[in-house]
Amino acid sequence: MDNFKYYNPTKLIFGKGQLETLPKEVQKYGNKVLIVYGGGSIKRNGIYDHVLAKLAEINAEVFELPGVEPNPRISTVRKGVEICKREDIEFILAVGGGSTIDCTKAIAVGAKTDVDMWDIVTKKERATDALPFGTVLTLAATGSEMNSGSVITNWETNEKYGWGAGAYTFPKFSILDPEHTMSVPRDQTVYGIVDMMSHVLEHYFHQTTNTPIQDRFCEGILTTVMETAPKLLNNLESYEHRETVMLGGTLALNNMLNMGYRGDWATHNLEHAVSAVHDIPHGGGLAILFPNWMRHVIDDENAHRFKQLAVRVLDVDPTGKSDKEVGLEGINKLSEFWTSIGAPARLADYNIDESTVDEMAEKTVTATPQYGNFKKLTKQDSVEIFKASL
Ligand code: NZQ
Ligand code: ZN
Repeated sequence: MDNFKYYNPTKLIFGKGQLETLPKEVQKYGNKVLIVYGGGSIKRNGIYDHVLAKLAEINAEVFELPGVEPNPRISTVRKGVEICKREDIEFILAVGGGSTIDCTKAIAVGAKTDVDMWDIVTKKERATDALPFGTVLTLAATGSEMNSGSVITNWETNEKYGWGAGAYTFPKFSILDPEHTMSVPRDQTVYGIVDMMSHVLEHYFHQTTNTPIQDRFCEGILTTVMETAPKLLNNLESYEHRETVMLGGTLALNNMLNMGYRGDWATHNLEHAVSAVHDIPHGGGLAILFPNWMRHVIDDENAHRFKQLAVRVLDVDPTGKSDKEVGLEGINKLSEFWTSIGAPARLADYNIDESTVDEMAEKTVTATPQYGNFKKLTKQDSVEIFKASL
């Protein structure tokens, strides 16, 4: 293992009825509250009314920023920053999925600086402060509820970047009631499952030795999510299965799994490039790209890692086969699993053809000429992975 420090200050409040704790948690930070939410699902499923009723108990002065888009935009962040500054907002409450939470993180930082938030997202400038914020999670997927990362898109420049500001961008608290995810439609449920599995896989492919505890944690989450996914998709209103998947999503990306090593993250870089150009769902893009990244990077030297995944998680029988053969069989089984639960397998499913491959590949190397920690990749690798994914 590598030396590491682990820091995660987010208070996780998990379980049925936990919205009851909202007034007490918000009260610690102030009375003027901006609630940030998406396109209206929280109004249809009653969460919005419930949140407002809870905030009324502490006589909070409530302001609203509705309309955060999936793949949240810098233009929406700027609107939120403007409200915070104009109204002297003291606390921000994100009510929604990863997009709403990511947008809130950017608003929280933007509210405390005169620098344009895009300069902070693109790392030209540094965050120096942030408003406190909390979340009420309504979709199990990104892990944004318990990490300091955020992903923001700029549609003027077709760029989508992950960024974070350490202590400033951890939620103070996150309320996770599995009942809040009951209304998530089938397709978004599938994307969430692919996303959380992809986070575990990004961690899993690393070059550090002696990580047996971390490996078993990762394999345990993958196996459990794969066992639960078909049952949940058979019964989208199963509290039990929603609960399992919700905890899985949080643990997959709160950085406990990668204690002592650095994961790969090339596939997320590839997906962000695709959705910067085509605005597709993040989980859908990952289901297409991950198996193709795996097939692209597997070689005789690193195949033992793929073999371990194939044998321990994907039930591949290794008898009489080379590590690479076992690994490749595992990759096929992973891809088949995602297809079996309804995830897309080809970029063509989103009407993406060869015409934008170069543009997307260029975006994978905007930040650095090489990317990926398990195996270093260049623009040419991106082109090949995108072409294999068409
Ligand atoms: O906008 P509303 O109307 O709320 O509808 C949303 C949206 O259309 C809907 N939804 C959410 N909760 C629902 C619901 N519909 C019915 N019932 C509910 N309870 O689901 C749709 C998708 O929501 P979104 O927040 O976009 O999904 P997700 O949580 O998958 O977030 C995706 C974003 O997170 C980024 C992605 O790149 C993408 O921009 N990521 C953030 C990460 C992080 N901060 O750590 C890591 C990830 O790898 C990822 O890149
Ligand atoms: Zn992701």
